[in-house]
Amino acid sequence: MKFINLYLLAVTTILFVNCSSKQEVTTLKDAYKNDFYIGTALSADQIEEKNIKVDSLIQKEFNAITAENIMKSMFTHPQKDKYDFALSDKFVAYGEKNKMFIHGHTLIWHSQLAPWMEKIADSTEMKAFMKDHITTIVSKYKGRIKSWDVVNEALNEDGTLRKSVFLNTLGEQYLVDAFKLAEKADPKAELYYNDYNIEEPAKRAGAIALIKKIKEAGGKVDGVGIQGHWRLQSPSLEEIEKSILEYSALGIKVAFTELDITVLPNPWDLKGADVNQNFEGSAKMNPYPKTLPDSVQTQLAARYASIFKLFLKHKDKISRVTFWGVYDKQSWLNDWPIKGRTNYPLPFDVNLEHKPAYDSILKLKKTVE
Ligand code: XIL
Repeated sequence: MKFINLYLLAVTTILFVNCSSKQEVTTLKDAYKNDFYIGTALSADQIEEKNIKVDSLIQKEFNAITAENIMKSMFTHPQKDKYDFALSDKFVAYGEKNKMFIHGHTLIWHSQLAPWMEKIADSTEMKAFMKDHITTIVSKYKGRIKSWDVVNEALNEDGTLRKSVFLNTLGEQYLVDAFKLAEKADPKAELYYNDYNIEEPAKRAGAIALIKKIKEAGGKVDGVGIQGHWRLQSPSLEEIEKSILEYSALGIKVAFTELDITVLPNPWDLKGADVNQNFEGSAKMNPYPKTLPDSVQTQLAARYASIFKLFLKHKDKISRVTFWGVYDKQSWLNDWPIKGRTNYPLPFDVNLEHKPAYDSILKLKKTVE
C-alpha cells in the first residue's frame, strides 16, 4: 500500500512538472525553438565575453549569432595581402561552444569596405579580389559558418542596382560571380542576399528580379535576408506579409536578419539603414534621454507582438529572426542616423532587464501552445 502511494505521488509529480513546464516558456530561444532561430548580433566585446552578465543573457536567450561588425571586409581583409581572423575565429568558436547557429555577415558590401578595395578601378583586379576574398573566407569556415550574407545592399530604393565599386568595375555579373564563388568554397553553406527596405514594393521587385537573375545564371541562392530596421508605424504588416509570400514563392527561405524598431523621431522621414547617412542632433531629436515613457513602451510591445504574430503565421517560410544587438545599450540606433541619442529598439533594456516588448513576444507562444 505504502509502495502504491509513493508510486502515485511520483507519477503525479512527473505529470505536474511536465504540465507546468509546458506553460513555463522562459526564454526567447526556447519559446520559438520549433519555429525559427532567434538570433542576435554580437559586438567585439561580446565575442570576447568581456561582461559575464551580458554573456549569460546571450546564452540564455539566443540560439543564432551574427557578428555586428568584425566580419566586415575592413576588419577581416584590411590590406590586399593581409587577412585578420583573430576575432572571427573567436566568434565562430563562441558559437560552437554554445551550440549556436552561426551566420556570416558579410562578404560583398560597399560599406565598411577596406580603403584599398574602394580604390580598385579595373575589372581584372576586381575579379581577382572577389575570388580571393570570398574563397579565402568561406573556405576557412567551411562547415562551421552555416549561412552567409554573400551580397549586402546591392539595390537602390527604386529597385535598380546601386552604383557600387563592384557594379562599376564588373557590371551586374558580379552578383552571379559572388554566389558561384561562395558555393564553390562551401557547397553546403546557405547563401543569402541581404538588404534593408526590401519589404517596400519597388525595392522588393528589384530584389526579386536580382535573385531570379542570379538563379537563372546558375548561382545558388538559398534565402533572402530582410534586415528589418523598422519603425513603430511602418512598414505595414501587409507589406511584410506580401514580402514573405513573394520571396518564398521563389523557392527560397526568408530570414529577418537585423531586426530593431526605432522609437525616435526620424530626420527627413528617413527609412532604411544606409550607414553613410548622418544628421545633426538636437534636443527635439532626442526626446527620451533618460527613460522611455510608458505610452511608447506599450506601443513598442504591441508592434513587436504584431510582427512576431505574423512571423509565427509564416514560420514554415522563415528560417531565422535575428535582433540587431543584445540590448538597448549596445544598439547602433543610439548613434545612427544621429550621434549620441538614447534609443530603445530591442527587447532588453540598458540594464539587461526584459522590456514589455520581450514579454509580448514570449506571451504569443504561451497562448499559442
Ligand atoms: C551597423 C553596425 O551595427 C554599426 O555598429 C556600424 O557602425 C555600422 O553598421 N546594415 C547592415 C549592418 O548590414 O552591417 C549595419 O550594422 C546596419 C545596417
